[in-house]
Amino acid sequence: MCGIFGCILKDGNAAPVIHAALKRLEYRGYDSVGEAAIHDGKLYIKKDRGMIDEVHSVLNLDDLPGTIGIGHTRWATHGAPLEVNAHPHVDCSRQMAVVHNGIIENFSELKLELENRGHIFESKTDTEVIVHLIEENLKSNPSLSFADAVLEAIKRLDGSYAIAVISLAEPNKIVCARHESPLVIGINENAIYFASDIPAFLPLTNKAVLIDDGELVTLSLEGFEIKKIRDSSVVVRKPKLIDWTPEMAVKQGYPHFMLKEIFEQPSTLRNTLRLQEHYLDLMATFLDRAREVFLVACGTSYHACLAASYMFSKLAFLATYPVIASEFVEQHGKSVNIDSTIMAVSQSGETADTLASVNCARQRAATVLGLTNVIGSTLTRVSRVYVGQQSGPEIGVAATKTFTAQLSVLAQMALRLAKKRGKVSQDEMDFLAEKLEKLPETVNAIIQTQEEKVKQVAKKHKDAKTFFFLGRGISTATAYEGRLKLMEIAYVPAIAFPAGESKHGPISLVEPGFPVVFVCPKDETHKTLIGNIMEMKARGASIIAVIEEGDEEIKQLADDYIEVPRGIPEVLSPITFVVPLQLLAYYMAVERGYSPDTPRNLAKSVTVK
Ligand code: AGP
Repeated sequence: MCGIFGCILKDGNAAPVIHAALKRLEYRGYDSVGEAAIHDGKLYIKKDRGMIDEVHSVLNLDDLPGTIGIGHTRWATHGAPLEVNAHPHVDCSRQMAVVHNGIIENFSELKLELENRGHIFESKTDTEVIVHLIEENLKSNPSLSFADAVLEAIKRLDGSYAIAVISLAEPNKIVCARHESPLVIGINENAIYFASDIPAFLPLTNKAVLIDDGELVTLSLEGFEIKKIRDSSVVVRKPKLIDWTPEMAVKQGYPHFMLKEIFEQPSTLRNTLRLQEHYLDLMATFLDRAREVFLVACGTSYHACLAASYMFSKLAFLATYPVIASEFVEQHGKSVNIDSTIMAVSQSGETADTLASVNCARQRAATVLGLTNVIGSTLTRVSRVYVGQQSGPEIGVAATKTFTAQLSVLAQMALRLAKKRGKVSQDEMDFLAEKLEKLPETVNAIIQTQEEKVKQVAKKHKDAKTFFFLGRGISTATAYEGRLKLMEIAYVPAIAFPAGESKHGPISLVEPGFPVVFVCPKDETHKTLIGNIMEMKARGASIIAVIEEGDEEIKQLADDYIEVPRGIPEVLSPITFVVPLQLLAYYMAVERGYSPDTPRNLAKSVTVK
């Protein structure tokens, strides 16, 4: 998830306007920053790794000449956060520059094809193929207009993109296009702007045109022309007046970042399905060879590891040991050795306890694999192989979209390994792959249909002194995560454990009205879980069940139920069942008068920096 912005001004220099807009977009990514502008038949570029202020203090981002320009603030997905990988990217003859937000899935194939045609690539990014493709189109068909050359290029892209290109050939235009990444146009009497988000231009204009998927827009001082990428038909769309305050705009109209991030999950899950296959294969190869595998993490990332241990076991028949990172050195520090493999999972890639475990493992010659959201973080530097989860920055302290993204990546890894080991049939593989593909839609359906119900449950229980969260099998991890969310943002003391444990002690806490949340997928644990629900009900507990649609048996037992679509395979079920629990924690915090984005005593990550 990156931020893009550009403008064409009637007067004055575009660069300071771009710089200020990128500052407003910095929440979308902050690995590197860059700008390109055109002036007097020349293309000027400034870019480097680092936060905008750092880069500006060295390069002065304001002194590029020209009334037209584009800019980018990056959240690395392909290629480390280095100067060479910072956007904008240029073609071989340095006639054009492109900025891009999204992921080009087929970039390796396109890059190879273009290299065979003599194109020289400078970066390791997926983005650079776009500008070389446009260059190639113009080379093979010089009569093409700049906009048509862009149009033909993007027809060849698989994946997601919002792009903007400037060219010396038509120096008064910016050509933009969108597919599954946001793009908006802003206009006033002195300028025209494009951006990945409205906040970028909100102080400059409140007149915006929202661009839809599959559209290409050509901007000039005369205005804008929107075309359908599919058939070049022209689309007429009027600007809208945006009445958001700047604060609302950054949150895209949501009252809190946490809610925005919960709602972003369909899109972040889609991004996890665009991982480069060879990284997953490499991970699977290391896991296959390992004598023992530890899955090490803290907090929410630990819950992803716990769920992953069920995925690896059930799909690939691989035993793994999920370990809370702060205990790893004490528990396994002496036994870990050259035959051990440590998979460290950390959204930030900087959590001190996770890195301490990794250090200990490395000193004892173990193999370290990493899964993180931050390419360029310490974890990526110390891992033998790492995979990026591609969720974009998470601003709410409570991890939501990064959790479901970790689960999706781990499930894909388990599937790879299962395939490598011949442990699943082709039919089962296809079935799971299809269900994975549908997850964004499924999660969207849950958010859209269940939010109101969850709100009512939160209202009902807002004064509860404590909560239980119970699940069996892989849903134990979901229950733990639901409990962590509720505790950390709504400050409700809560307990979670595998439902089978309740009769070994915790049940003594239950008294009439005590809220107990059950995570109830219709998997092999369903029958036994019903027994656990009855036990709690017999003691007067108020049962809140997250069930599959149409699960009449549990509906009849539950005081309140929240439904998720039917037919999600067991190994993927935490991805869907956790969503109502995220919403429950969010609305409990709101009902109790707390700000979900800034829980007391917690910061986004414990870093070693
Ligand atoms: C969860 O909502 C918290 N933000 C916290 O538990 C977090 O998951 C933990 O600190 C680990 O962070 P990491 O994934 O960045 O390593």
